[in-house]
Amino acid sequence: MQSTAATFDPKDFRRALGMFGTGVTIVTTRADNGEPVGITANSFNSVSLEPPMVLWSLAKNARSLPVFQNAQTWNVHILSNEQEALSNRFARAGEDKFSGLPLDSQDSHAPLLQDCSARFQCKTAFQYDGGDHIIFVGKVTGYDATPRPPLLYVTGGYALASRKSGEIASEPAADTNRAYSENLIGYLLGRAHFQVLNGIRKPMSEQGMTDTDFYVMSLLTVQQPQTPEQIASHVDYTGIDIGSIALQSLIAKGLLEESPQQPKALQLTQQGNESILHVLAAAKAVEADIIDSLGEMEAATLRNLLKKAISATDPGLPKLWQARAAA
Ligand SMILES: Cc1cc2nc3c(=O)[nH]c(=O)nc-3n(C[C@H](O)[C@H](O)[C@H](O)COP(=O)(O)O)c2cc1C
Repeated sequence: MQSTAATFDPKDFRRALGMFGTGVTIVTTRADNGEPVGITANSFNSVSLEPPMVLWSLAKNARSLPVFQNAQTWNVHILSNEQEALSNRFARAGEDKFSGLPLDSQDSHAPLLQDCSARFQCKTAFQYDGGDHIIFVGKVTGYDATPRPPLLYVTGGYALASRKSGEIASEPAADTNRAYSENLIGYLLGRAHFQVLNGIRKPMSEQGMTDTDFYVMSLLTVQQPQTPEQIASHVDYTGIDIGSIALQSLIAKGLLEESPQQPKALQLTQQGNESILHVLAAAKAVEADIIDSLGEMEAATLRNLLKKAISATDPGLPKLWQARAAA
């Protein structure tokens, strides 16, 4: 477990350092010939509030080193959780990293990238030798920040943030049966699903719709008409076995009808269309409330984890959704 300096294995040392989670930044500047230069760096850190100062370090073998050593100014961009591709682009040596990127800055200044979580405009204050890196310390001359959730980097990979505080997030005592069941992922998913759908049960019952009706009808808003077999195979992914009775009952309620163009295939009636749009509007409001209470950062983390749980348990994706994802 323990290593001394003499026996350091570089890979192992790097792995140990990777236990320290960071954000991800791109630092940019401009060469004397006007060429924009930038690299991905997670060595960024705050240094001082008064005067405002930050630091980061650049490998001595980086192609951009001479440019940064000569530069009077540089910009640090804290990347948002949607800028992973940009991070990878600026981490590859030799690419035309700025090709096609819209910038906020004028030609003579260090490039300012768009859509980041925060940006700091800096003036070089000090440069220090730091082993195989040069440490740049800058005075912050301007900054801006947005509510965009930040991208993180930990244990050698990108990550999303989720706050750990809060009553529900706290771990119940480990030695009780209650603690065991309250932490079961299946239980938590089931309960979250039930509670989230609670917000649309009232409008559903006003429209005379069961949970199954809701799945079938919202599916038909994506693509219609569909044969009963197609509907069954798509709805199957939500765990619901519709059978012919549910479809017959939707027809009897005047919400579905046979398509005049494609016999045996079903489509929404005008009344069905109005009903499902009403419920979908309520579903959108529920979604907005959840995002509001979680915040964008945790909503993005939750989506990521749910998608991971889905693909970990069944990587299959119904063709309907594949077609829409490719469109
Ligand atoms: C998440 C991440 C963080 C990085 N942090 C640093 C860093 O702090 N300092 C550094 O010199 N290189 C860092 N790198 C590697 C550089 O981005 C990479 O070597 C880049 O190609 C250097 O560009 P250049 O050779 O064109 O100057 C990081 C790469 C990644 C993916």
